[in-house]
Amino acid sequence: MTTHILRIITSPRGEASVSTKLGNAIVGKIKAKYPDSVVKERNLATHPLPHLDDVTISSFFTPTKNLSAEQSNAISFSDKAINELQEADIIVLDTPMYNFTITSTLKTYLDHIVRRGITFQVTENGIEGLLKDKKVYLAFSASGNYSNGGSEQAFDFVVPLIKAVFGWLGMADITVFRVEGFRDPKVQEAVVLQQEIDRIAIS
Ligand SMILES: Cc1cc2nc3c(=O)[nH]c(=O)nc-3n(C[C@H](O)[C@H](O)[C@H](O)COP(=O)(O)O)c2cc1C
Repeated sequence: MTTHILRIITSPRGEASVSTKLGNAIVGKIKAKYPDSVVKERNLATHPLPHLDDVTISSFFTPTKNLSAEQSNAISFSDKAINELQEADIIVLDTPMYNFTITSTLKTYLDHIVRRGITFQVTENGIEGLLKDKKVYLAFSASGNYSNGGSEQAFDFVVPLIKAVFGWLGMADITVFRVEGFRDPKVQEAVVLQQEIDRIAIS
């Protein structure tokens, strides 16, 4: 059976990007485990989604048959992004830290994929995510160190945010790989990258 991998790239730095190199390694190991897998790539740096505007938000709450031409066009970005997630078995999300949080392009992407009645619903028992049975790998990079118990740890608004939003949508099985701390002159980026690549195990 074909395994569908959705690869989401957010760094604008192309081949120099640490998070993209880490994501490449994760995808490589997934492909080694599932040789018949196919990869669909969404590059938010080269193809950013539009910020939500009034037309887009109103389109989210309008029945399909009543959408105006303008609303249909506006909602198509969200529909396409959600469709890719629905089709995916495995999601690999590369995300650098920018000013303690995610890139603005990734934030806009999240704004497009969280849709009541489509990717989550409100039930008597609370929130139910509708993107189920998916495995998520997060390829995180930051020049500071946010996982060594140091003073910066409280400022990581990347991993908790992704876990909250993806979890809300039903994608709670998230494994995080992190290349960080290379702002410290004693820490070499290439060394910590390789150490983390060596640690990647695909469940
Ligand atoms: C605009 C910008 C903001 C950044 N903000 C932070 C930050 O708040 N904390 C941090 O540790 N590193 C920060 N960095 C460093 C990046 O997280 C780090 O270089 C990361 O590897 C970049 O990802 P990339 O290599 O995939 O492009 C920032 C870098 C840029 C370009």
